[in-house]
Amino acid sequence: MEDNSFIGLDIGTTKIACIISELDANNELKIVGVGVSQSDGLRKGVVVNIDKTVHSIQKAVEEAELMAGTDVESVYVGIAGDHIRAINSKGVVAISREDNEIAELDVIRAIDAAKAVSIPMDREILHVIPQEFIVDDQKGIKDPIGMCGVRLETQVHIITGAVTSAQNIYKSVEKAGLKVRDLVLEPLASSYAVLEKDEKELGVALVDMGGGTTDIAIYFDESIRHTAVVGLGGKNVTSDIAIGIRTPIERAEEIKKQYGCAYSPLVKADEYISVPGVGGREQREVSKAVLASIIEPRLEEILSLALREIKRTEYSDMLGAGVVLTGGGALMEGIQELAEKVFEMPVKIGVPTGFGGLTEAAKSPIHATGVGLCIYGVKHGSGAKKSKKNFSGDDNFKKIFDRMKVWVKEFF
Ligand SMILES: Nc1ncnc2c1ncn2[C@@H]1O[C@H](COP(=O)(O)OP(=O)(O)OP(=O)(O)O)[C@@H](O)[C@H]1O
Ligand SMILES: [Mg+2]
Repeated sequence: MEDNSFIGLDIGTTKIACIISELDANNELKIVGVGVSQSDGLRKGVVVNIDKTVHSIQKAVEEAELMAGTDVESVYVGIAGDHIRAINSKGVVAISREDNEIAELDVIRAIDAAKAVSIPMDREILHVIPQEFIVDDQKGIKDPIGMCGVRLETQVHIITGAVTSAQNIYKSVEKAGLKVRDLVLEPLASSYAVLEKDEKELGVALVDMGGGTTDIAIYFDESIRHTAVVGLGGKNVTSDIAIGIRTPIERAEEIKKQYGCAYSPLVKADEYISVPGVGGREQREVSKAVLASIIEPRLEEILSLALREIKRTEYSDMLGAGVVLTGGGALMEGIQELAEKVFEMPVKIGVPTGFGGLTEAAKSPIHATGVGLCIYGVKHGSGAKKSKKNFSGDDNFKKIFDRMKVWVKEFF
């Protein structure tokens, strides 16, 4: 594999997606392979069956490899689930140089100090993201290097996850014959693919409507401020349909994708679909309006819970750029209209951008996480070849967690 390859592996509750990307000679990102397989080894974003997950990973990776004509060795992997917690923390240091000029080392020391909060034994730090710096009494500084001062303070956002959940992802990827280049919080990865810089600056909530969970990440003043998870997703919508119109889950899933609508005013009154019954019962006709009357309240509930999470933060009135929806749920007809009603804010469907190549295959909100993982790799890591050197041997997992992911590189 080439030095300039970045591979994202999105291990979701309903699908696993492998996206192979390459930086070309002009430093432009090109998607060269996309592979998707069904996933049934996870529950609400967390691996519960390693063997099933390994099998699905292999299927998705093989498909992407075939398309790209290359072999995948190491991947950027997403992590999500309601075990994720985030805290804001502060660190203060005195400027070391005699002339009081702030050097990169001071910034690293300040971030280190902010990181020195007590994290329970069963949690690991996934990301440490600097939000702002304060030099003496001057607030809101993005890049303090080169400034003069005697005191440097930083505020950081620390994202932690359960060690066991991370280990199970790691194990699954490793057993599938791949190396984990980095574990990245999924809504954070998605933000790289779908959010513009000015949206992050103005304030925006990214809501990833997955199969198992709905993840929320709030950005303001260019950095991530809050993350939350609602433990409901598209699977709940599907099982409501299965029960509501009495049809097997698989058929309910197909009907949902093909005929479902999240916003009843968009549905014509006289449209019908035929639905096979369970256990050999007769086929019936169901109106699309009835279908929407099952889907709408559930999605409204999910979006309202997401809004409640947003309202729990101090940023709810400051989201100038509104809400961006990603994940498979963002493909549902009428979701934008419903979300605008619930959030009372402008809502955009987040389609991944910022790359060339197989744009058709990857330009879907369902691939926001996978594409975002590739872009994350470009910004924060090195290509696949280098990563092999960094991450080889059995202590790979330990190395990843020994190294705190400080974002100094991107921040400046
Ligand atoms: N066209 C569509 N219309 C409505 N829903 C859809 C459509 N396509 C996919 N979905 C739903 O989106 C969900 C899958 O989305 P996604 O692939 O983002 O989830 P995931 O990453 O597997 O899960 P999670 O992120 O929760 O772990 C499924 O519930 C699926 O039914
Ligand atoms: Mg997902």
